[in-house]
Amino acid sequence: MSDRPDSQKPAANAMWGGRFAAGPDAIMEAINASIGFDKRLYAQDIQGSRAHAAMLGSAGILSSSDVQAIREGLLTVLSEIEAGSFPFSTALEDIHMNVEARLKEVIGEPAGRLHTARSRNDQVATDFRLWVRDQADAAIAGIEALQKAFLKQAEAGADWVMPGFTHLQTAQPVTWGHHMLAYVEMLGRDAARFRDARARMNECPLGAAALAGTSFAIDRAATAQALGFDRPMANSLDAVADRDFALEFLSAASICAMHLSRFAEELVLWSSAQFRFVRLSDRFSTGSSIMPQKRNPDAAELLRAKIGRILGAMMALFTVMKGLPLAYSKDMQEDKEQVFDAADTLMLSLAAMTGMVEDMVANREALRAAAAAGFSTATDLADWLVRALGLPFREAHHVTGSLVALAERKGCDLSELSLAELQSGHPGITQEVYSVLGVDNSVASRTSYGGTAPAQVRAQVARWQGQLK
Ligand code: ARG
Repeated sequence: MSDRPDSQKPAANAMWGGRFAAGPDAIMEAINASIGFDKRLYAQDIQGSRAHAAMLGSAGILSSSDVQAIREGLLTVLSEIEAGSFPFSTALEDIHMNVEARLKEVIGEPAGRLHTARSRNDQVATDFRLWVRDQADAAIAGIEALQKAFLKQAEAGADWVMPGFTHLQTAQPVTWGHHMLAYVEMLGRDAARFRDARARMNECPLGAAALAGTSFAIDRAATAQALGFDRPMANSLDAVADRDFALEFLSAASICAMHLSRFAEELVLWSSAQFRFVRLSDRFSTGSSIMPQKRNPDAAELLRAKIGRILGAMMALFTVMKGLPLAYSKDMQEDKEQVFDAADTLMLSLAAMTGMVEDMVANREALRAAAAAGFSTATDLADWLVRALGLPFREAHHVTGSLVALAERKGCDLSELSLAELQSGHPGITQEVYSVLGVDNSVASRTSYGGTAPAQVRAQVARWQGQLK
C-alpha cells in the first residue's frame, strides 16, 4: 500500500498539506480520525471559536468585518450540525478541522484568519474542558435528584425498623430512614467531588496555542471570561498537555458509580424471595421468558455492573496519560471516547437509580420480622447490664452471650426468655430489662449524634431538605 507512486495517492490535506506531496493512507486516516466521536464537541468548538474571534477583533488582530463574517458563518455551521445536514468528513480528521473547512465554504477567505494565534492543541483542550464542565454540572443535578428520592424514603420510614448488618449477618436493628440517609450522605460527597473538580478545571487553556503561547497580542482573560472560566491557565505547556481534569471527573464518576453499585446490590438482595424487604416497580423489573413467577431486578443488576465501565474508562485514561512527555501528543486523542462513555453511563445510571428509589415499596412487616430475628438486641441487653447493674462491658458481653446461647437452644428470641431464665445468666436482672429487648426500644435508644433513632433520622432529614431545596 505504501509504495504506490505519489500520483496515485490521495490529495494532500487542505489544512496542513503545504509540505506534503500526498495524502494519508486509508488506514492512516482510519486510525488518525477522531471525527466519529469528537463531533460531540461541536457546540463547545463553535463557542470557543466565537470567543476567540471576538477577542481577535477587540485586540485589533482581525478586522471587524472578518469577525462579523466569522461569527455569522459559525452560526450557520452550528445550525447545519443541529439540523443534521452538516457534511462530516473523515478526511478532515476532527471536529476542529471539519468546522473550519465548512466555515471556509460558507464565508470564504476570512475563515482562514480564525486560526490566528491558536492551535488545535489549545482548541481541543478548551472544547473538552467545556464539555467535561457541563457533564460535571449534569452529574451534580443527577445526584441531587437521587438524593431527593432517598430523602423521601427516609422521611416516610424514619421509624420503620429493619435489621442492620455487618458481614451481612444481622447485627443490630436500625431504621429504614437511617439506611436511606446513609446513601444521601455518600451522594452528598459525590456531588461535592464533582463541584471540587469543576472548580479546579475552570481555567481556560485557549491562547496557549500549540504549546508556547503566541507572539500575537491576545487577551486571554477576555476569552476565559467569555467562556465562563475563572481565569486563563498560567502555563501554556500545562494548558495543552494535561488531562487531569478529565481524570478527576472519571474518578468522581467512579466513586459515585461504586456507591450506586452498592445500593444496587442491596436492591438485588432485598427484592429476592429470601429477603422480601422491597418490591421494585414494574417499571424497573423484567419477567422471565420461561419462569412465569419471576420478577427480575435487571436494572439493579446493571447498575451493580456499570462501575466496571466507568472505572475502566478511568484506568484507560490514566494509562494513556502516564509517561507522556510534555506537551501535546496524539495519544491524548484517546481521552474522549472514554470520558464520553463514562459520562453517558453515569447519567443513565443516576436516572435509573432515581426511578427505582422513587418507585420502590418497602415491606414493613418483613423488615420488622427480620429485625427481630437473629438476636439483634443482644447489644442492648449487654448495654443494659452495664447501665443498670454496673457490670464491666466485657462481663456483660459474656453474660449476654450465654443468654443468646440459651435462647438459641430453646429456639426463641431473647425477649421470649422468662425472667427466671434471664436471671440464670445474672441474678441481678429484673423485669425492667424487657424494655430494651424490643426492636423499637433498641432503635429509639440510639440517640447519639448520627445514630439510628427516629428522632435523629428526622433531624437529618430536615437538615438535608433544607440543603437540597
Ligand atoms: N483531534 C485531536 C485530539 O483530539 C485534536 C488536536 C490535534 N492536534 C494535533 N497537533 N494534531 O487530540
